[in-house]
Amino acid sequence: MTTPRTQLRPGYTTPVVIKGNWQIADDHSTAVGDDDAVYEHLAAFVDAGIDTLDCGDIYYGVEERIGRFIERYRRERGRAAADRISVHTKFIPAFLEEEGLRDLDRATIVQTIDRSLSRLKVESLDLVQLHWWNYDVPGNVEAALVLQDLVQAGKIRHVGGTNYNVTELARMVDAGVDVVVNQVQYSLTDRRPANGLSRYCADNGIHLVAYGSMAGGLFSEKWLGIPDPGEPNFENVSLDKYYRIIVDFGGWDLFQELLRALKTVADRHGVSIPVVASRWVLDQPAVAAVIQGARHARHLAANLRIAELELTAADHDLLNPVLDRATGPAGDAYDLDRAENRDAVENLSPDYFDVEAGRLVRRHRRVEAPAELYGHHLAAAHADPVGTLTAQR
Ligand SMILES: NC(=O)c1ccc[n+]([C@@H]2O[C@H](COP(=O)([O-])OP(=O)(O)OC[C@H]3O[C@@H](n4cnc5c(N)ncnc54)[C@H](OP(=O)(O)O)[C@@H]3O)[C@@H](O)[C@H]2O)c1
Repeated sequence: MTTPRTQLRPGYTTPVVIKGNWQIADDHSTAVGDDDAVYEHLAAFVDAGIDTLDCGDIYYGVEERIGRFIERYRRERGRAAADRISVHTKFIPAFLEEEGLRDLDRATIVQTIDRSLSRLKVESLDLVQLHWWNYDVPGNVEAALVLQDLVQAGKIRHVGGTNYNVTELARMVDAGVDVVVNQVQYSLTDRRPANGLSRYCADNGIHLVAYGSMAGGLFSEKWLGIPDPGEPNFENVSLDKYYRIIVDFGGWDLFQELLRALKTVADRHGVSIPVVASRWVLDQPAVAAVIQGARHARHLAANLRIAELELTAADHDLLNPVLDRATGPAGDAYDLDRAENRDAVENLSPDYFDVEAGRLVRRHRRVEAPAELYGHHLAAAHADPVGTLTAQR
């Protein structure tokens, strides 16, 4: 079966399931493996038709890994096969460094785009998604217009955004930027895009690309029936991020009700919980694709079912009563995260929660930081009185 695709612009399509690669960043997971392991797992996705790879310039080591993957794939499978791969990267200027964001100029933007081109070993970036993480700092529209110029210069094919609310997105659109996608968190526990963003995007030719549809793995049989860990303290930053959203959603007990309803629906269709959760997102207005994060290909066969699953009215009748009782999160996409600076939080605890043989357990890990601190690592290092992060570099 070939994975269905959505046309984002004439001559440019994406599969409805995109492969997310935050999970293969040095500072996201310790289970990534060497280049051979990364090659095998990325090749499995691409061979299955999931040939759009999402990444970002601050995902530590990821653009380089994808660059090496594409080079080897081209060598082993030929140019035509490799040319089918598209990469959606992100431009995240001076992440969490307000001064740097204020000082951002055209030369720095061009240099950063050139760095992505060289890391990815491609002549043109298929899609660059801008993340202007602090709306109090002016310059978002100007930066987007520079990216638009780089389309004319042939360095970028398409410009997109990530985590934009309607107000800021409209400023870019009104300034003449052709915003092709807005990548936002969208899931059964985070339906904020339905509060106006989906409508705005549909009206303005912008496609939503959804992350978090599996809540980092919390939407799964593994977490069904497990008691509340009580704090966002898990094996990786995705799980921490989505646990906070579950609290906003109405808490762990309501989430467990949702998991039970999802399990009933999944069993009806012979699929698993994350497949139903992702399909639900894919069916929402203006959503072009869901991103499936993965650090291996073990879930690939299961997740290919996302593309073919058809949810019925009876399925929605099971899910809706739970969704109707949700208390949040409220507001537009990412507004709460931005207001609370949630992406600046780094979990430095050596103990974390996991599930083993159907029971909640505590595991121990060594807290590592990348050699070059950036973004949330900087924020954590400043706030870290015992120097855990810097001491272990
Ligand atoms: N723009 C932004 O601000 C932003 C933010 C977050 C993410 N993203 C993008 O979105 C991508 C997705 O990341 P995410 O953090 O949202 O994670 P996610 O896709 O919600 O969850 C991925 C995790 O779910 C688990 N999983 C996947 N399929 C499964 C299955 N069939 N059964 C059981 N578990 C399954 C896997 O865990 P195991 O590996 O433990 O099996 C996997 O690592 C990222 O890679 C990144 O590209 C963007």
